[in-house]
Amino acid sequence: MKDVLVSDVYALINRCFANVSYNGYQHVENFPHVFSPANSSFLCVEALEGSIGLQGACTVYPTSWYLPSGLGFQGACVGNVCVDVPFRNQGIGQKLLQYAEEKAQQWGCCFVYLFSDLSEFYEKAGYRPYGAENFVQLNPDFLVQFWKILKNEGLKNHKDSWDVQAFVTKEGRMSPFLNVLWSFIIQYSSHCFCLLSFQDFIKMMQIPDMEVFMIFNNRENYKDIDIQACCFLGKGSDFQNVIHGFYFKKPEVCLILLDFIVKNRVPKDQGQFIIMTSQLTAFFKAQNCSLFTTYKMFIKILDGHGKFDEPRFCKDVLDKHEHDLDVHSFQSS
Ligand SMILES: CC(C)(COP(=O)(O)OP(=O)(O)OC[C@H]1O[C@@H](n2cnc3c(N)ncnc32)[C@H](O)[C@@H]1OP(=O)(O)O)[C@@H](O)C(=O)NCCC(=O)NCCS
Repeated sequence: MKDVLVSDVYALINRCFANVSYNGYQHVENFPHVFSPANSSFLCVEALEGSIGLQGACTVYPTSWYLPSGLGFQGACVGNVCVDVPFRNQGIGQKLLQYAEEKAQQWGCCFVYLFSDLSEFYEKAGYRPYGAENFVQLNPDFLVQFWKILKNEGLKNHKDSWDVQAFVTKEGRMSPFLNVLWSFIIQYSSHCFCLLSFQDFIKMMQIPDMEVFMIFNNRENYKDIDIQACCFLGKGSDFQNVIHGFYFKKPEVCLILLDFIVKNRVPKDQGQFIIMTSQLTAFFKAQNCSLFTTYKMFIKILDGHGKFDEPRFCKDVLDKHEHDLDVHSFQSS
């Protein structure tokens, strides 16, 4: 990065991802947790610079993965791989991936992962697909179908016996529920993997202005509340107006949360809310609702040198969960 200006890298990334940026923001503005200069200790922009200037860039940052048993290991999330148009198809993209992998190995990571729909490009570099991350845009068409599902599922009857509560993180009102919410997330974490440690979870709950929605019964005694589903809205300045992190006993129950959010939070120009969750969108897909976009997750196991020095272990675990891995990535501290 010595001779490359960060502003040039941002400009390159914005140019290359102009077609996927949403909410009217430039791509870089949508992901401040990756691009903020304050986070530069874990931001690594690998830029290839020749006499003709910046040709390509990507980001990579470490994340901690935890199994419910408490066993943890390090992975690195690669993102924003891009090569300027005149320099494409000359192997620069593959080189960027190699640089990112070397960086991950220096950090002691056992594997690298990323979300993409470019199978050919990543499989060529040794990445294998696992799971998916789906994005659904709540445009008017989608909402029409959504209300139909809600009606068909007959959920309105249930609504009286359940309570939907919204909490703004960092307000303190949430604190009595933290343990019970954490237990719920661990128990109903979509699959065996949970990417959050308790500490990560607590940090997340301190993000200013993120909203946590929960649906539960037994409102008398918070220790005994029976959470049915939860989700999050926004993420501070990041992922504004994005509903994310659905955890639930049954996907149908999430419709009640969505109903609540749509009625109480969706602004007049209704196209802006995006749901990100793999199982829930599978549910919507089954109801013939259209998805906005889907990204596969790709993983590459790195050989040796991992902090936990257990690449075999990672491989075994990942292989075992090849078909049901569901991943939410969070910024590591
Ligand atoms: C994807 C991208 C980074 C590839 O960079 P690149 O330097 O051209 O890639 P390389 O020269 O290293 O590799 C080219 C190979 O990747 C594959 N590939 C490259 N771009 C591809 C694309 N858009 N779709 C499918 N395969 C692609 C080709 O199969 C090609 O293989 P070949 O050499 O057998 O023809 C570049 O096209 C880009 O910046 N795209 C826009 C941003 C983007 O979508 N990034 C990926 C985000 S997940």
